[in-house]
Formats: sequence, C-alpha cells, structure tokens
Amino acid sequence: MNKITQLFKIKYPIIQGGMIWNSGYKLASAVSNAGGLGLIGAGSMYPDVLREHIQKCKKATDKPFGVNIPMLYPNIEELMNIIVEEGVKIVFTSAGNPKTWTSFLKEKGITVVHVVSSSVFALKAQDAGVDAVVAEGFEAGGHNGREETTTFTLIPMVKEKIKIPLIAAGGIASGRGILAAMVLGADGVQIGSRFAASVESSAHENFKNRIVETKEGETQVTLKELAPVRLIKNKFYQDVQDLYAKCPTKEDLSALLGRARAKHGMFEGDMIEGELEIGQIAGLIHAIKPVNEIVSELIYDFEQARKEVQKFDF
Ligand SMILES: Cc1cc2nc3c(=O)[nH]c(=O)nc-3n(C[C@H](O)[C@H](O)[C@H](O)COP(=O)(O)O)c2cc1C
Repeated sequence: MNKITQLFKIKYPIIQGGMIWNSGYKLASAVSNAGGLGLIGAGSMYPDVLREHIQKCKKATDKPFGVNIPMLYPNIEELMNIIVEEGVKIVFTSAGNPKTWTSFLKEKGITVVHVVSSSVFALKAQDAGVDAVVAEGFEAGGHNGREETTTFTLIPMVKEKIKIPLIAAGGIASGRGILAAMVLGADGVQIGSRFAASVESSAHENFKNRIVETKEGETQVTLKELAPVRLIKNKFYQDVQDLYAKCPTKEDLSALLGRARAKHGMFEGDMIEGELEIGQIAGLIHAIKPVNEIVSELIYDFEQARKEVQKFDF
C-alpha cells in the first residue's frame, strides 16, 4: 500500500492517462480490472457520449475508475453535471485553472487530481484543494508545458514543494521507468503512450501500428503559439514546419490546423494529414498488446529493476 493505492483503492499505483480518441470505456475498464486506475478521456466526447462511456464502464468493471476532463472543453458544465449524476468518484482535470472546478467536485465527495507541468502550478493545485497532482514532463504525448521541463527534473522539484501525493507522467512505459519515478519522489505514475498502443485503446489500428513503428527522435513539440503539443513527424507536422518558415500569425496556424485533425488522425486512421499525438517513449513500444499483459510486464519489470538496484553496492 502507498498513498496512491490508498487514495484510489487500487492494487498498483499505475494510472492510465486520459487520452482523447484513445481512452474510452474499454481501455479504462481494462486498466482498472488489471489493478491500475483507468480514466475515460472526456476531451474528445460529446456529453451524451461521455454518459454512455461512464455507464458502460460501470458495467465492465467493479473496480474504481475515473474521468479526465481538459478544462478548455467548451461544454464543461454539462460534462461536470453528467459526472455528478452518474456517480463518478474520481476526476482528473487538466489544461486550465484548478480553482475553477475543484471545490464544486469536492463538495460532491469526488476525489480530484489536477495535471501540472511545473512546481508553481503544482502549488496552485494544492492550494485549490486537489487530492493529488500529476506532474507531467515534456516527454509526454499530447499537450505539454511551455517551460519544457522534463520528468526527471520535474518530479524532485515538485516533490520538494508539495505535501499531497504526487503522480509522475511523461516518458514512462516500463517497470524500470516506474521505479525511477518513485525513487525521484513520485507516489505513483500516469502512463499514456504505452496504453494508446493497447488492444483495448479506441484508436484506429493505423495509429496503433504507427506508434509501434515510431523510433527515438521521431516526435516533436510544435504549435506552441496555440497549445504546445507533441506530435509524430508526419506530413501534417511537416506542413506546420513549412508554414513556420513563412513567419505565420496565430490565425495562420489555426487555419492550417483546422478542425478535427486529431480525430482524423488517431481515430479515423489518416497517418498523412492527421494530428498524431504520442510521447517520446514511443521508441520503446514495440508491439500492440492487451492491457493485462502490459500491466503484468510493468510489474514484473519493476520487480526485476528493484532487485538489480538492491544488489548495487558502493
Ligand atoms: C494520444 C494522447 C492523447 C492525450 N490526451 C489527453 C487528454 O485528453 N487529457 C489529458 O489530460 N492528457 C492527455 N494526454 C496525456 C496523457 O494523459 C499522459 O499524461 C501522457 O501521455 C503521459 O506521458 P507518456 O505519453 O509519455 O506516457 C494524451 C496523451 C496522448 C498520447
């Protein structure tokens, strides 16, 4: 038992990060059934779709699960009301001010966790009354912090500042990575990219295969003027770089991005024109696997790494 397994009443301190177009109820329930904490990614769901996923998740697992809500979501009030109506017990918020929704959720008895990219934001989240923070380094897939702080430097610095439980995210896809994060001061980990390439992920097969093919150095953070995001270097990514060479305005970048590009890429499978979000650690992901296999491997690898470290003698 540790702070995170106690907080969420789970077996392993492993959280599957909420991921637009990847983490529906199938992935979330599979991770919860395997002993971690699964999160439904509400950021790509209309309110009625979110309700359906929550209801299906309740049927697919009797273990705790949660919902991730990026706070820049347009119909956020509607999503929050659905969460309360459906009796969701755990909410992870990201991409916004933790003050906005934390007290509303806490008053309803919901455990609240906020995702941050710096110790300043971690302190703000703690002050807002959240139960734990996810400190996410710049290696991570999806949207990133502007300061480019890596997980290895972020975790000990956040640890020094906050008293509430700390979950590390970004660049973790092995038991070895989990152990490293915990040695640095994390109480648990949030993993995204590894679970995006799982059988239960709702991503298109083309995207899952593309993750497996992605090598070290083939992702990059871009579109910082809009919201920094780590992408696979495909044709769309190259189009963005070509536009940068012409000193574009924010509006030019928005126009190129257009609408639904992430859905088009990750969910509908267009590997050329789509926006493909994945972390640097994709270079360590070599096969699409079922969630229970992924979790078993993480735990086995963690134990092996721990034994190796214990043998070490100065
Ligand atoms: C495809 C993809 C979509 C993501 N979407 C979200 C999201 O909707 N909300 C969020 O808070 N984080 C999102 N993330 C970040 C993950 O929840 C997680 O923190 C991150 O993937 C951890 O880093 P890793 O990819 O190195 O494991 C996304 C990540 C990926 C790879």
